[in-house]
Amino acid sequence: MTVELNHSSWTFRDLGSGVPVVWIHGFPLSSRLFDPQLPIPGVRHVLPDLPGFGESADPSRAMTIDAYAEGVLDVMDRAGARTAVIAGLSMGGYIAFAVARRAMERLCGLMLLDTRETPDTPEGRQGRLDSIETVRREGTTPIIDAMLPKMLTEETLKGNPDLVERARRIMESSSPAGVIAALEAMAGRPDSSELLPAIEVPTLVVTGREDTITPPADAERMRSAIPGAELLILDEAAHLSSFERAGEFNRAATRFLGRVQPRR
Ligand code: MLT
Repeated sequence: MTVELNHSSWTFRDLGSGVPVVWIHGFPLSSRLFDPQLPIPGVRHVLPDLPGFGESADPSRAMTIDAYAEGVLDVMDRAGARTAVIAGLSMGGYIAFAVARRAMERLCGLMLLDTRETPDTPEGRQGRLDSIETVRREGTTPIIDAMLPKMLTEETLKGNPDLVERARRIMESSSPAGVIAALEAMAGRPDSSELLPAIEVPTLVVTGREDTITPPADAERMRSAIPGAELLILDEAAHLSSFERAGEFNRAATRFLGRVQPRR
C-alpha cells in the first residue's frame, strides 16, 4: 500500500495476523531486509520502506530522524495499529528510539537490532558529509561498495554468494535522494541515552557477534540501561544479523513476541 503522508509518499506492506510488529530497516536498505522474518508465526508484519528506499518515492523535503518517526506513527495509523512492537535495525533503531520518545504509549514492545543509542562522533558526522558529496558526484554505488563488506561476515561474503547478492540488490533499490536524506538525518540525530531507563515495554536487544558498525559492547550497554531488557548475541553474524542468521533470530523473536501483550 502507498500512502501520502505530510512529507512524502510511503509504501508499506501489511502481512499476516497477530501481534503487530513494525519492522524499520537500516541504511541503505529496504523492508526486504526483513523478508526472512515473515515466517515468524502469530505476527502482523507492517513493513514500511523509508522515503527513497525500496518501493517508496523520494522524500519531498529534508529528513530528520524525528520526521521518519512521525512517518512510522502515520503508517501505524493508516494500518489501524494503535500499538505495535517496533523493531528497528541500525538506522531503524535510531528511528525506533525517536518513536518511543514521541509516543511510548504506541509501543507494546521494542526490538533493537544492531543499533546504538549514542549520536555520531564529530568524525562520524564528517564521514556522513563526505558520503553526501560522493553520492552527489558518483551516485550510490561507492556507498554500497563500501558498506556491503561490513554488513555480512567474511565467511558469508566468501561462501554464500546468494545471500550477498540479495543484500546487494536490496541496497541497490536505494535512490541517491533517499541516501542523502538519510545521511543528513543520521548525522543530526540526538543522543537517546537518557531515554533508555524510561523504556517501559519489553525489549529485546540483538546484535551480531561480528558486527563492527554497532558491536556487541553497544548492545550490552543498551541492555544494562533498559529495565528488564534481554540480550541476544548471534554468532557468525555481522551487522545484518537478523538477515544473516534468520533461523536463530526468528526462534528468539518468536519466544520474545509470545510474551508481548498488545496494549489497549
Ligand atoms: C545502518 O545499517 O543503518 C547504518 O550502518 C547506520 C549508520 O550508518 O549509523
